[in-house]
Order: sequence, then structure tokens, then C-alpha cells
Amino acid sequence: MKKILITGGAGFIGSHVVRLFLQKYPEYDIVNLDKLTYAGNLENLQDVESNPRYTFCKGDIVDERFVVNLFEEHQFDGVVHLAAESHVDRSISNPTEFIKTNVIGTINLLNAARNSWKDNFEDKVFYHISTDEVYGSLGKEGFFVEDTPYDPRSPYSSSKASSDHLVRAYFHTYGMPVKISNCSNNYGSHQFPEKLIPLMIHNIKQKKPLPVYGEGLNIRDWLWVNDHARAIDVIFHNGKLGETYNIGGNNEWTNIDLVKLLCRTMDKKLKREQGESEKLITYVKDRAGHDMRYAIDATKIKNELGWEPSITFEVGLEQTVEWYLKNEDWLENVTSGEYQKYYEKQYK
Ligand code: NAD
Ligand code: DAU
Repeated sequence: MKKILITGGAGFIGSHVVRLFLQKYPEYDIVNLDKLTYAGNLENLQDVESNPRYTFCKGDIVDERFVVNLFEEHQFDGVVHLAAESHVDRSISNPTEFIKTNVIGTINLLNAARNSWKDNFEDKVFYHISTDEVYGSLGKEGFFVEDTPYDPRSPYSSSKASSDHLVRAYFHTYGMPVKISNCSNNYGSHQFPEKLIPLMIHNIKQKKPLPVYGEGLNIRDWLWVNDHARAIDVIFHNGKLGETYNIGGNNEWTNIDLVKLLCRTMDKKLKREQGESEKLITYVKDRAGHDMRYAIDATKIKNELGWEPSITFEVGLEQTVEWYLKNEDWLENVTSGEYQKYYEKQYK
């Protein structure tokens, strides 16, 4: 048996990774360490709760003593580190929280892993999950490749860039067995509805205004979350130590075209007249420092590890819409309480 620590497993991407690893690797014990912030939700993992190879541990990666004790208790063989503050808008209103979790939290995990492994790194892996936002913003042309210079422009992306640098520094300085991946925008089930796609689905359902920032011309490269989890699996197991892999969907959309596609899909599903939901589109004040375009060149992971997205955007988006419509209770639960206060402040 191997013991694998997954941080942030109660969040959007983390919950898909926990489920995939439990299903695919009967020889793994999985420990999910999560603080359960507003974004972490144990309902995301209800289906695996009673699996004897799964342990949930509530805790804060910023708490150094707690992290050291956890590593001492469990003697992990590998770490997949996803825990983070992940929403750009929140980083604009509260940057310090992002430095604590994303930077201090990451160095606490690196130190605890190094101490517990006592500099004997054979068969060990520390895998840090990062974002394409560290590369900055593209113009109309070009793609982010693994050695595109870092140019983060929001407190969120700066904190992720900082943690990436620390992870690389531990590889070069201490020989830590690290891997990093930088992925584009994910979509799919269990995503907190502060992010574009679930927020729009929720508002369309409720016939509320659809807040599009600026002119809606910013471009994002969308990837199905299950495909990101598959990429994390192949990198964790087969990626080279010390290397970075870019992960993307080769699937660029302007925000406005994407919102219109969602409106058409939802009108069909909800049996509304075509065009009804589009009338809800409302252009609102732009995000401060809003990055114009992200686009990933995922050639390296395809050529070296044989990974490619498994489904088209149209199919993935339709499945995603269906999931949110079927799981009304989930949406109700996560949008009660804290969400209301956040929403009023953000979109006032
Ligand atoms: P999320 O916000 O849905 O989940 C983050 C999880 O981390 C939550 O369960 C939360 O409770 C937990 N967490 C937060 N602070 C913590 C702390 N101090 N200690 C322990 N747990 C804590 O995020 P996500 O969208 O699933 O993103 C996961 C990771 O993937 C992040 O590192 C993010 O930067 C990266 N990423 C996300 C995307 C995307 O499109 N969502 C794309 C590329 C990379
Ligand atoms: O690129 C990867 C990143 O993708 C991840 O690292 C982040 O964790 C994740 O949150 C995501 O960041 P974005 O800022 O791109 O995602 P978000 O869903 O917040 O916004 C997508 C686009 O939609 C962006 O251009 C801003 C715009 N937007 C967003 C919201 C919430 C709107 O126009 N209106 C909105 O209400």
C-alpha cells in the first residue's frame, strides 16, 4: 500500500482527483487534507466517504505545526497539492489571504515533506498543481509554453507564481522530487458558483442578470475537469521529476460567446423560448487588471505522456449543465449563507 496526501480534496478539482485515484489505484490510501473554506464542501465526496482507503482530515496548511504532525503521523509516499485560494476576484479584494494559503501553505508542505522523507527521496513525489495565469496575458497571437517567462498580474496569479518558484527552488536546492503542472480554465460538476460557468448557469436558472465583465471579449481556454484529473494522474505517475507540464483544452472562447452558448443550451434544457436567457446578459464594470487572453500549448504532455482531452467542449458543457440542473440541492446548499454576502458585495 502507498499513502498519498491530496490537499484541497474537498474543492472542485481536488474532489475529482480524489475520486479518480481511489477508483484507479486499489493499492493507495488517500488522505484528503482540507480546511473546508467556503470553497470546500464534503458533499463533493459523499460517494467515497465510506471507502476504507479514504480519510478526511480537516486542517489548515498555513498551520505549520499541524502540517508537520500530519506528515509524522502518516509518512506519506506522495503529495498532490491542490489546496489554494483560487478565485481572482477575491484576490483583488483580499490579497493577503492568498499569500498565506498559496505561498506560506505551500512552503509548509514542502518543509514537512522534506523533513518526513529525511532527504531520502526514492519513490517519493511532491506534485504541485498550478495555473496558466502565472504566464500573464496574451495578445491575439501565440500560446503559453512551459518556458514562457512568468508575468503574473493579479494577486492570485502572483501567489501561485511564487509557490511555483518555491517548489522549483526545493528541486534545485534540496533535490526534492517535485513536479508542476500549469492548467487552463476548468469547467464541470462541483465548481463553486463564483466562477463564470456555474455562476451563469445558476443565474440563468433563476432568471437573474448575467454579469459579463467589460465588453466580454476576454478569452479563456476551457478544459473539462475530469480531463484535468486524468492529466494529473499521468503526470503524478509518469511525469519527469523537476519538470513542468502545461495542460489545456485547445478550446478558446470569448466570454460573451461562451455565455451566449450557455444561454442557448439552457433555453433548450429548460424548454424556454430560444433567445429568452440572452436578454439577461448585463455588461458590468470590468475586473481590475483583467488578463485579456490565456491559451495553452499542450504539445509536451501529448508527446511525452500521451495525454489529450477526451471530450469536445459541446459534449462536456451539455453534461455540465445537466449536472447543475439535476443537483439543485448542491447548488442551493453552496449558495446559501456566505455566498449571498459575497455576491452582493462583488456585483453591487
Ligand atoms: P477550489 O477553490 O474549488 O478548492 C480549493 C480547496 O482548497 C477547497 O476545498 C478549500 O477548502 C481548500 N483550502 C483553501 N485554503 C486552504 C487551507 N489554508 N488549508 C487547507 N485547505 C484549504 O479550487 P479549484 O478550482 O479546485 O483549484 C484547485 C487547484 O487547482 C488550485 O491550486 C488552483 O490554483 C489550481 N487551478 C485551478 C484551475 C481552475 O480552473 N479552477 C485551473 C488551473 C489550476
Ligand atoms: O486559467 C486558470 C484559472 O482559471 C484558475 O487558475 C483559477 O483558479 C480559475 O478561477 C480561473 O480563473 P479566471 O479568472 O479565468 O476564471 P473566472 O471563472 O473567474 O472568469 C472567467 C472569465 O469570465 C474571466 O475573463 C472573467 C469573466 N467573468 C467572470 C465572472 C465571475 C465575467 O465576465 N463575469 C463574472 O461574473
